[in-house]
Amino acid sequence: MLKLFKKDKENKEEIQLDFDNIPKHIAIIMDGNGRWAKQRKLPRSMGHKAGVETIRRILKEADRLGVKYITLYAFSTENWKRPKDEVDALMKLLVQYLTNEVEGLHQNGVILRILGDINALPGAVKEKICEAIDLTKNNKGIVLNVAFNYGGRNEIVRAIKNIVSDVESGNVNEENIDENLISNYLYTKDSPDPDLIIRPSGEQRISNFLLWQCAYSEFWYSNVNWPDFSESDLQKAIYDYQNRDRRFGGV
Ligand code: FPP
Repeated sequence: MLKLFKKDKENKEEIQLDFDNIPKHIAIIMDGNGRWAKQRKLPRSMGHKAGVETIRRILKEADRLGVKYITLYAFSTENWKRPKDEVDALMKLLVQYLTNEVEGLHQNGVILRILGDINALPGAVKEKICEAIDLTKNNKGIVLNVAFNYGGRNEIVRAIKNIVSDVESGNVNEENIDENLISNYLYTKDSPDPDLIIRPSGEQRISNFLLWQCAYSEFWYSNVNWPDFSESDLQKAIYDYQNRDRRFGGV
């Protein structure tokens, strides 16, 4: 019989995780920032700002628990359809986050990577991203993938085009096209597939996120909006993951 909870010193319930079975890669759809702001009669951008605070806490907790890769869905290829003010606020938040945090991330051994088409971003945003990637690339700690201007279908189209081009130039032999080769043409080529995908805010959709990579991921949903997502929510997600039966198509 699995022991669900134990009480800590303050008699609060505490989840007992199996530290030999921590998901190596957790991907998160950071949803519910707008609703969080609306509930407080604040502009949507304040919800995204609060969401950045959650990133800080959750990254730290994931690292403490032994997660090796965290992928955050921060800006999708569809998010350009949002009002210009909100798009601008999201770009600004990324730049602020990188400006304020990159040194701390670096000190903590974090490797920052971006998934998505950064060439289509404003010059100053691209520049900050490149600096942060360059500074942290040789670190040895947790990998933080930020999906920014990312779309799963767009990523697959891009991979197909690049494979076709490499076949035409003779760099790839058509016979060698297999699942592994395709994975190596995706933005995530240096990360394993996510073991666990978390979506807060009550929505239960994949929303064009890691479409190829999620083939055998476990999904975990919660009604909490991202700005309120806590360390104990992360622990609960990992606990539930540890109690799933992952068969990868086997028996
Ligand atoms: C979804 O909530 C959230 C986003 C589209 C943006 C998430 C971005 C951040 C938390 C900050 C920027 C990222 C970094 C790495 C600094 P929503 O706006 O769709 O919320 P709603 O569904 O409640 O309207």
